[in-house]
Amino acid sequence: MPIAPGSTLGILGGGQLGRMTALAARTLGYKVHALDPDPDCPARSVLDRCIVASFDDAAQAAELASQCDVVTLEIEKIATAGLSAAARLAPVRPSAEVLGMVQDRGVQKSWLSSNGFPVGPFREVATSAELLAATRAMGGACFVKSCVGGYDGRGQLRLSGGTSTGGGDDLEREAEALFGTLGGQRCVVEQALDLEAELSVLVARSPSGKLAVYPPALNHHRDQILDWSLLPGPLSASVTGQAVQIALDLAVGLRVEGLLVVELFLLKDGRLLINELAPRPHNSYHASEVACATSQFEQAVRAVCDLPLGSVEIVRPAAIVNLLGDAWLDGAQPPFEAALEIPGVRLHLYGKRIARPGRKMGHLSATGRTPEEALVAAKLAMARLSAHAGLPLPSR
Ligand SMILES: Nc1ncnc2c1ncn2[C@@H]1O[C@H](COP(=O)(O)OP(=O)(O)OP(=O)(O)O)[C@@H](O)[C@H]1O
Ligand SMILES: [Mg+2]
Repeated sequence: MPIAPGSTLGILGGGQLGRMTALAARTLGYKVHALDPDPDCPARSVLDRCIVASFDDAAQAAELASQCDVVTLEIEKIATAGLSAAARLAPVRPSAEVLGMVQDRGVQKSWLSSNGFPVGPFREVATSAELLAATRAMGGACFVKSCVGGYDGRGQLRLSGGTSTGGGDDLEREAEALFGTLGGQRCVVEQALDLEAELSVLVARSPSGKLAVYPPALNHHRDQILDWSLLPGPLSASVTGQAVQIALDLAVGLRVEGLLVVELFLLKDGRLLINELAPRPHNSYHASEVACATSQFEQAVRAVCDLPLGSVEIVRPAAIVNLLGDAWLDGAQPPFEAALEIPGVRLHLYGKRIARPGRKMGHLSATGRTPEEALVAAKLAMARLSAHAGLPLPSR
């Protein structure tokens, strides 16, 4: 049954993804409530009600649901107990089952591999001795990622494999130190893969089973944080076809209600492997706001409200470049006017009051005749902002 415009949407999480979802919901005529631990969260200024509570407060998740017609989420670290409590009062999309599988990296990787989806070599470990054994089994260079709580490269470290002197003791010391740095908690050890490119695919699935899949985005990371993204990603028909099929199979297999983003690695040897899943809007599809007939945020609202899904057609190719807190020099704002002078460039700020290095403050988007042309404009705009803080230019 559709939840019609005029109803109230609840969002667990009030970060930038919640803010942009709330704005899209408002455009469609919904009222929006959200729950977030931060009273100054980015979504706050565009909400009808903001509940300030921690992500593991099941009672407050239920309170949110009691005033809403449907509840969704914008962040994975919501306690599944909260989702279950909310689900007694309103439909919760995606479900606690989907979130429970996705929010633990170890559980997610095992689920993907045991259900026949392509993932790289990995092992779940619980002690530094297990970490060392896993690293040796994978031949040295690895990514070690805590099972819970990581994002934007936080909660994960790269292990070089003790190559400096080649000695086994080096590796042992490195593994022990690294395990301690990650808090001595359960981790997934992944072989460091030889990447040709990174891409992602966004699929929407409504409760009545309708599907809409976007063309893959091509993503570029710097220091494990998304730097820029192109939509549509200039990829071969074969890679595009495989990526889209993986996303559709996952959305159907998991019976996702709402959005699912699949992050993928294209290896130098041509294989396409799944990095991770996110059952929510995603940084790599921010370009959909300017590139597509339906933005990912509007699509999220349509999907969780069981409305007809919107067209995923590319109206004009686009690119985004992330704007991190590093561009705020001694608290001074970057010169936004200089970026906005460039034709086709738009500024998207998330309303975060405190800028910190590595913190996502906003992004710049640009459109062009081709995704590459859009990227040139977006990077030029970012260069004008970065110059003021003496920062390196967006990476190639
Ligand atoms: N096994 C790997 N081999 C090569 N590169 C990797 C591997 N794992 C991670 N990376 C690099 O680090 C980036 C971040 O990894 P991952 O997506 O696992 O972390 P995250 O903290 O969830 O990041 P985000 O929140 O941006 O998705 C990847 O996009 C990729 O660039
Ligand atoms: Mg990722």
